[in-house]
Order: sequence, then structure tokens, then C-alpha cells
Amino acid sequence: MLQVNELSKRYGETIALDCATISLNAGEIHTILGENGSGKSTLVKLLSGIIAPDTGDILLSGADIAGATPSAFQAQGFATVFQEVLVAPDRNVVDNILLGCDGLLKRRIPRSQRAEIAGSALSQFAVTDVGLDELAGHLPLAAQQLVVIARALVRKPKILVLDEATAALDFADREAVFELMRKLAGDGCLVIFITHRMDEVMSLSDRVTVLRSGKVVTTLPREKLNPDELLSLMAPEMIGAAS
Ligand SMILES: Nc1ncnc2c1ncn2[C@@H]1O[C@H](COP(=O)(O)OP(=O)(O)OP(=O)(O)O)[C@@H](O)[C@H]1O
Ligand SMILES: [Mg+2]
Repeated sequence: MLQVNELSKRYGETIALDCATISLNAGEIHTILGENGSGKSTLVKLLSGIIAPDTGDILLSGADIAGATPSAFQAQGFATVFQEVLVAPDRNVVDNILLGCDGLLKRRIPRSQRAEIAGSALSQFAVTDVGLDELAGHLPLAAQQLVVIARALVRKPKILVLDEATAALDFADREAVFELMRKLAGDGCLVIFITHRMDEVMSLSDRVTVLRSGKVVTTLPREKLNPDELLSLMAPEMIGAAS
């Protein structure tokens, strides 16, 4: 469904992503695993049009969309929850969830339906109650994270990208998001999941791609996943130092 081909992105002297090639399938939870600074968020930003690659292709059903605008990526069915939780602080929860659905000049969703649509996007997964009328900037970080996840889901994405998107959530909300990820993948959505946590990697992933220093080390299927081996693929020098 989605083919990342020899994708590279450099920031000055830093090669954030180095000729990365990854095949991703509809209906899978595909985890991207790597140490801090290994290029995960750079890949996420390239897959959402926030930044353009220096070289390489992003092929969606064969068509190259690398370097397209964020709205073009959204129009192709991508929805991304970024690592930094970005809410519009002075707008309420409903407006924040529908942010991507509203046009620049006019609201496309009728006023009468806004609260219902936003509320049902949230209630698909949020265990914690989030007041729809509250200003997003007044919410605790965990509730803001629920809002940005709901913002991605309300678009009914074909490709959902979650960059450490459950990091601030409590256990019940996190488990509920994971349950929803499994359901979405079961319905044919490609879920691209970025995490540091090995327990999450092991319980959720259909396949795992390991990044190290911007390079793809390998992609492994679920049946080949083993925490010690994944750690050594991520950071072989740390394993050496520990032993
Ligand atoms: N805007 C930027 N300007 C300069 N360097 C950047 C920029 N964004 C990322 N980098 C560098 O590119 C490399 C990859 O960063 P990236 O954010 O993709 O890593 P990551 O795997 O998401 O890390 P983390 O686990 O900490 O989120 C790092 O060395 C980082 O410092
Ligand atoms: Mg990151």
C-alpha cells in the first residue's frame, strides 16, 4: 500500500534519515522502533508533508507523493498524531477535534452536528471524560493528547500515524487507544506506530522496522520479534557496554 523508497533528509550536518526503504501494508500495525534521534519523527514528518525529503519517494498505491503538502497527504487518507501535542489553546475541544475538517474560510460541518461528531470521535476510545466546551489550553496534557488523537480519528484515516501519541496517557486510556488501533487495522487501516516501549512493541506490532542513526536496520514480522534482539538491533553498542 505504502512504499518508502530510499528516503533521505538532512539537517545541516545531521543526516536525520538516510536512504530509508520500508514497505507498509494495509491492515497492519507497523511499528517504527529506534533510539532517541534515530529518525522516527523525521520519517513521520515526511509522511505527513510537514517537511520534504532531499531525495527518495513515498509511493502510495504506486503514485509518488513525496514532498506533497500536508493537505494533499490528508486528502490521500493520512492522519498524523505528532509527538508534540499541538492544540489550539484558545479554542474549545470541539473546535480542536474538528480543526482539520473546517475550511479556512467557513466551517464545513453544520454547527448543530459539531459537538456530536467531535464527542463520538472521542468516545470511541477515551475512557477519561473530556469536556467538549473546555478550552483545550486549560486541559491537562493527557486530555490534550486525547483531543489530538480524536482529531486524527475524526477524518477516518486510511493511514494513521501515531508518533509516541500515547506517552502522556494513563493506563486505561492507553489500553483503549491500543484496542482501537487493533480494530482499525482489522478494518484495513495501516497503523504506523512509533514508540520507545518494548512491551507495547511486543503486544501490538504486526511488523517492526528498526531505525538506527537514520538508517533502516531491518523489518521483522511478529513471529520473529524478541525484545533482546530488538534492543541489540536498535543499539548494539549499549548491549556491548552492558555485558
Ligand atoms: N528541525 C531540525 N533541525 C536540526 N536537526 C534536527 C531537526 N529535526 C531533527 N533533527 C535531528 O535529526 C535527528 C533525527 O531526529 P528525529 O526527531 O527524527 O529522531 P526521533 O527518532 O524521533 O527521536 P526521539 O525518540 O527523541 O523522538 C536527530 O539527530 C535530531 O537532532
Ligand atoms: Mg521523535
